[in-house]
Amino acid sequence: MTLGTTTTPRIAAVAGTALALALLAWAPAPARAQAELKTDQDVERFFATACGWCHQGGGREGGRGPALMGSKRSDEYIANRIATGKPGKMPAYGQSLTTEQIDAIIHYIRNLKPEGGG
Ligand code: HEC
Repeated sequence: MTLGTTTTPRIAAVAGTALALALLAWAPAPARAQAELKTDQDVERFFATACGWCHQGGGREGGRGPALMGSKRSDEYIANRIATGKPGKMPAYGQSLTTEQIDAIIHYIRNLKPEGGG
């Protein structure tokens, strides 16, 4: 009998646990990567990376896409444009955003004010 025969399985068990924990920590990451858009500040951050390169100034100015601030479009129109996009012009976000997230974006757009103003 040596110590070696009893320690080897323990090392294997520890390594197995570490691997399982690593997998657990890693697995939910893609789901969490999709930002929670609870406040206009959350949306502002998301908008800057996802939409800002076409809707400049946080949506206040035009760019590749039109300015969104002060839009006369209905909520339904805006929700539909975000969900379905516009072929060749704007990507569709219906697969990556929930209706709650799209509602939060509409709320953000409706509350846009000229920068520095207000
Ligand atoms: C690749 C550039 C691009 C990106 C990225 C983009 N858009 Fe657009 N967006 C456009 C263009 C171009 C239009 C005009 C489409 C049309 O002809 O109706 C548009 C139109 C819109 C409209 C309708 C505005 C109006 O008055 O007709 C909304 C709302 C909108 N985008 C929101 C968003 C949001 C929110 C995001 C990010 C989740 C986003 N867009 C990302 C290019 C883009």
